[in-house]
Amino acid sequence: MSVRKVGVRGIGAYTPPKVVTNFDLEKIVETSDEWIFTRTGIRERRIAEPDMATSDLSYMASKIALDSANLTPGDLDLIIVATVTPDMFFPATACILQDKLGATCPGFDLSAGCSGLIYALSVGAQFIANGMYDNILVVGGETLSKIIDWQDRSTCVLFGDAASAVILGPLDTGGFRSFVLGADGGGGKLLELPAGGSRLPASYETISQRLHFIKMNGRDVFKFAVRVMEEASLEAIDKAGLTLKDIDLFIPHQANIRIIESAAERLNVPKDKFFVNLDRYGNTSSASVGLALYEAFLEGKIQKSSKILMVGFGAGLTWGACVLEW
Ligand code: UT7
Repeated sequence: MSVRKVGVRGIGAYTPPKVVTNFDLEKIVETSDEWIFTRTGIRERRIAEPDMATSDLSYMASKIALDSANLTPGDLDLIIVATVTPDMFFPATACILQDKLGATCPGFDLSAGCSGLIYALSVGAQFIANGMYDNILVVGGETLSKIIDWQDRSTCVLFGDAASAVILGPLDTGGFRSFVLGADGGGGKLLELPAGGSRLPASYETISQRLHFIKMNGRDVFKFAVRVMEEASLEAIDKAGLTLKDIDLFIPHQANIRIIESAAERLNVPKDKFFVNLDRYGNTSSASVGLALYEAFLEGKIQKSSKILMVGFGAGLTWGACVLEW
């Protein structure tokens, strides 16, 4: 089997219109705009309406990506949705999305926390590289607002809702030059949603103990994040046969500006090479890297042959990085 080059044929993202600022959050938990901004860099986030689910945001992002690739849903060979907030346990959000789009291809979901989009891109890329499929829709979609504990100030100020979508296809030149994936299940407890699965099915007790919401040890996740951002970035650049200086743009997972700045310092890369939009969206988990890539593209920060490093980390614990030549 010959190996084909794989690249990005189209890209899109969607955020729900409702803006929730740090000042709005001051009214529901004991916090302040000053604390949130200085500790995280976040000013505001988007929150989905009660009747909006992950597949709805994913649908909007996918339409934009399909248009930009000049493709119709009927052209798709596969849909992969990376999410930790699927519409429901089953059917897969990818199948719900397939139906909404009017596509006929197979689809499945992938759960890798905030590294989800990079994991999903690596999976999609294999199907194209080996010649099995030509057009793959990869989505990172989240409605984290639905699993946030709005009484827990240590987590509710961090997250937001969004979806991003990437169309992968075969290319003659450029495309993905490397992927690095990692996991440390031993750190799973640091960031989890304890109940609702087969370990702790929904019960009056799990609900009264607020176990259906995100629980996080922020300090330990922070330390892990700073370490893997540096290590995974260096590994992906090395695997691509490049050096740090060859990278034109860094697209990091948008969790906390302090994590991004420490990664820049540890790598000795100027901060302005790191794209940041977390001030407007907060941490949108699987959607975050794609949303940043899309906005960087719209802002003209990505040109033909630009070399882009994407890097993420999250629940699992997981991490992932890849080098993409545009
Ligand atoms: O995608 C992966 C997901 N997760 C992450 O990336 C999270 C990584 N971690 C972080 O970003 C940071 O650890 C946080 C932003 C979550 C927290 O920042 P920190 O500098 O590590 O703060 P801390 O947890 O050490 O808390 C410092 C203080 C505590 O008070 P005491 O114990 O010092 O009196 C907290 O109770 O800040 C308090 N605090 C708050 N105060 C006002 C925690 N949350 C808030 C809040 N408003 N929202």
